[in-house]
Amino acid sequence: MARFTLPRDIYHGKGALEALKTFEGKRAMVCTGGGSMKRGGFLQKVEEYLKEAGMEVELYEGIEPDPSVETVMKGAAAMEKFQPDWIVAIGGGSPIDAAKAMWIKYEYPDTTFEDMCKVFGLPKLRTKAKFCAISSTSGTATEVTAFSIITDYQKGIKYPIADFEITPDVAIVDPELAHTMPKKLVAHTGMDAITHAIEAYVSTANCDYTDPLAIHAIEMIMDNLVKSYNEDMEARDAMHNAQCLAGMAFSNALLGIVHSMAHKTGAVFADLGAHIIHGAANAMYLPKVVAFNAKDPVAKKRYGVIADYMHLGGSNDDEKVDLLIKYLRKMNDDLNIPHSINHYGADGLPAEQGFVPEDVFLERLHDIAANALLDACTGSNPRQPSQEEMEKLLKCCYYDTEVDF
Ligand SMILES: NC(=O)c1ccc[n+]([C@@H]2O[C@H](COP(=O)([O-])OP(=O)(O)OC[C@H]3O[C@@H](n4cnc5c(N)ncnc54)[C@H](O)[C@@H]3O)[C@@H](O)[C@H]2O)c1
Ligand SMILES: [Zn+2]
Repeated sequence: MARFTLPRDIYHGKGALEALKTFEGKRAMVCTGGGSMKRGGFLQKVEEYLKEAGMEVELYEGIEPDPSVETVMKGAAAMEKFQPDWIVAIGGGSPIDAAKAMWIKYEYPDTTFEDMCKVFGLPKLRTKAKFCAISSTSGTATEVTAFSIITDYQKGIKYPIADFEITPDVAIVDPELAHTMPKKLVAHTGMDAITHAIEAYVSTANCDYTDPLAIHAIEMIMDNLVKSYNEDMEARDAMHNAQCLAGMAFSNALLGIVHSMAHKTGAVFADLGAHIIHGAANAMYLPKVVAFNAKDPVAKKRYGVIADYMHLGGSNDDEKVDLLIKYLRKMNDDLNIPHSINHYGADGLPAEQGFVPEDVFLERLHDIAANALLDACTGSNPRQPSQEEMEKLLKCCYYDTEVDF
């Protein structure tokens, strides 16, 4: 038996934010990030619409990018005090993910972070509140997914919480929120979205329900991401839908080792002064993982199908895989994203000298690989790497060398 779960309602298109006016409840806690939603005037609208729906509203602001376990615990305490029956999270993946984890702790105050990380092991939520997610970036699709990514900064590790219990009740996908994204954010979140769609399509948990969503998302991202990056606002609107479709696919088909590696490299060099931004990590690792997974015959065939839908040409699956890899690398160039960790510089831009020195990378390689193998996304990857293979793959991602194993 398989399960396919999505939010009960997905409001989409310009003006979708107004759906909030129809919500029924007493108290809504609105969770958001550092200020972009307020600057865009969206936070004020959310507050106004919820009040119009007759609710008392409290704001929980200042959730940081790549939210920490501590932030989750603090937010849950604020919820415990205010007792909302709606949690409305607005912003990028970070505040929405943090609010999802806060929700778990609010419903079950005795839950520890470790309990939350037991894959598909959460108790029933919605005994206290329902959850609405409003995305302002076009990538994570957390507004429709069963995932939340929280960082344990003591360990330098990002942990995915995974359970259909945290699939939101309502998603609002209003493209106007994405118009204020700076170019770099468009690039990174867009490559996150294409990674979701490609990993979902070749995942061992793919099915007839997820395949069409993944393929259509890939086609739309191919047509619109670079245009959106170059400030074409119609393309930006299309990207907001495309990333959501990719999310519907991967929330049900799961992901693969591009995400395992991104989760385990994202914060592990934070002591050197920078994160490897999630979408940029995916963009660098995806072509390497396609080459690695293509040694599996079923995955190779599926990459071939993707290449066909993208009209990349090629007369056999080997050629199609090569063309797909070339295309993805060209996207990185068009979006000003480096190809490898050794050239990953400040702000995620390509640099001659990246912020992760070779000796530090090699010193931490064994543990990063071991942690990546344990990541919740590894199980559904079409080819299971050994510790040695994972280390070799990570080295290819550091030096930008060819994957020939
Ligand atoms: N839950 C999931 O299924 C899932 C999937 C992929 C990634 N993630 C996680 O999501 C996080 C990344 O989320 P993200 O890429 O959406 O970025 P983000 O939420 O971390 O935001 C990045 C920055 O962009 C700003 N911002 C957000 N929207 C904006 C807008 N419309 N205009 C201007 N500025 C804006 C934010 O204030 C912030 O400074 C990572 O922690 C990643 O691991 C979660
Ligand atoms: Zn992702």
